[in-house]
Amino acid sequence: MKQHHLSIRSKSSVALAITLLLQTSCWAQTPATATNTAVTRYDNTLEIFQPVIRTGGMVASEQHLASSAGAEMLRAGGNAVDAAVAVGFALAVVLPNAGNLGGGGFMLIHDAKTKSNVALDFREIAPANASRDMYLDTSGKVIEGKSTRTPYSVGIPGSVAGLTQALAEHGSLPLAQVIAPAIKLASEGFAVSPVLAELFLIQRTHLERWPATRAAFFKHIDSSQTCALDQCPLSAIRTYQAGEKLVQKDLAQTLTIISNQGAQGFYTGTVAEKIVNSLKGADQPLTLADLAQYKTEVRKPVEGQYRGVQILSMPPPSSGGIHLIQMLNLLERYPLKQYGSGSAQSIHLMAESARLAYADRAEHLGDPAFVKVPQAGLISKKYADELSVKINPQRMTPSAQVKAGNPVPYESDQTTHFSVMDAQGNVVSCTYTLNLSFGSGIVAAGTGVLLNNEMDDFSVKPGVPNAFGLVGGDANAVAPGKRPLSSMTPVILMRDGKPWIATGSPGGARIITTVLQNIVNVIDFDMNIAEAASVPRMHHQWTPDFIRVERGYSPDTIKLLESMGHTVKVMPTMGRIQTVQRTGNLFMGASDPRNPDGAPVGIDQNK
Ligand code: GLY
Repeated sequence: MKQHHLSIRSKSSVALAITLLLQTSCWAQTPATATNTAVTRYDNTLEIFQPVIRTGGMVASEQHLASSAGAEMLRAGGNAVDAAVAVGFALAVVLPNAGNLGGGGFMLIHDAKTKSNVALDFREIAPANASRDMYLDTSGKVIEGKSTRTPYSVGIPGSVAGLTQALAEHGSLPLAQVIAPAIKLASEGFAVSPVLAELFLIQRTHLERWPATRAAFFKHIDSSQTCALDQCPLSAIRTYQAGEKLVQKDLAQTLTIISNQGAQGFYTGTVAEKIVNSLKGADQPLTLADLAQYKTEVRKPVEGQYRGVQILSMPPPSSGGIHLIQMLNLLERYPLKQYGSGSAQSIHLMAESARLAYADRAEHLGDPAFVKVPQAGLISKKYADELSVKINPQRMTPSAQVKAGNPVPYESDQTTHFSVMDAQGNVVSCTYTLNLSFGSGIVAAGTGVLLNNEMDDFSVKPGVPNAFGLVGGDANAVAPGKRPLSSMTPVILMRDGKPWIATGSPGGARIITTVLQNIVNVIDFDMNIAEAASVPRMHHQWTPDFIRVERGYSPDTIKLLESMGHTVKVMPTMGRIQTVQRTGNLFMGASDPRNPDGAPVGIDQNK
């Protein structure tokens, strides 16, 4: 159910939007060129992809019901943080494969009142009982699936702490008001979309293993069956189908407890006890003490500049911000605009930049509380000068010949993203996750809370790839109290000191390159945010050594890349970008068409 801005645009607002959008996209051009481009590029009869445009604020998320929950807060006089927190809780209900209470994430906030930028880190944390070799057998071999689909895969969840802290420190509405739409969606139910029905089906074998998960997300095949869902034979139950109403009473109850008691209602008391008991077996992977000690960290966003635009993103324990800026620093030296969007030359340069960045990721990145991450070096322009020598503009360099660089001398598919802007100038860019689709697949009995499998984001053994094919070493080894390395890349772009665009994406290892291309599409290739989110994407991550592309690049382009030495594989789509943009008093929103459930929902200013 996408909103279409055309219905709300008068002729004059179209003209204004065209002018403002043009100013937005052609910032690097001379005014004369910009004016000429305006006539052809932003005439809405010529644009294939269109953002939603409103005048009072904008929310973009992967589920239109959650976007609407956020817009409801803006309409009630709340700010972008109120709206974002409402979206975060609502997604835990309507996007159970990634939205969550039982996972963790990162939220970038631009606070208009204090003109400050903060990065809230509510990443999951390894429990006190975790240990470096916990996923290896006695012969040192990785135990298949232990870090992804067992109680040992669950990190201490951070989402409830993060969302409530964001609201307390930067919001303006009471928690009960912000969480109310989520409670309503859980207790009254919502219609399962074809996309969600398909995801349930794909993940059935993971979900059906856990009795409480069967009770939450399965139905009787024959409605006259009387067995309790968590005890029925598997042959008697099925997943929800498109159009059926999914009611989550236990989750509604947990949300109500959080609404009444705040984060404490999740991290202590009956909810915490139920989570701990659900994971208990021969031993206790997660304890009440682990939950009670969870703490959100307030960090300083990592900052860079790309062709005059200020980039703000997430610092470690995410690798996203650092490597996004590192790749942009490398790409800045090439005339990408001249090479063109989707050209073999542009794809080659992005792939080679990614190859270098992901090699550094594997070596240098981890939780900054445990390892010294050479952040300033990795994002410095001088380090990019040194690295750029390793890029042959005409030929790929095999990953076997690429090792992590030394930035120290320069020291000075299932996650989801949502973005919000309000009329006061506040901005939120938030990516949070359960890690894989539906996380560990374990619902904590009696809570409706699906638990993450974020422990797989640690390097379970040096050199052994995780579920995203990423390798790591000591810097990202498991340790109690440590946060696993992430690729989540929430971004705020600032122009002339003012927030311009907030964006981000799910996609595991592919998040960083997805966000990179989104930024390059807008800044170098003059795309509006809807087009930038829609065109085909590529990805390279050093190892395995091939360029992964979505369908949509021409066979000629792929042949050219192969002639440069690349192996190119056409594979399923990557990422689901959610972007909001402010230009003057207009708010644009775009949800990636790769998930048709997503939608930008905006509000108009009362005039
Ligand atoms: N779980 C995916 C990430 O954090 O990068």
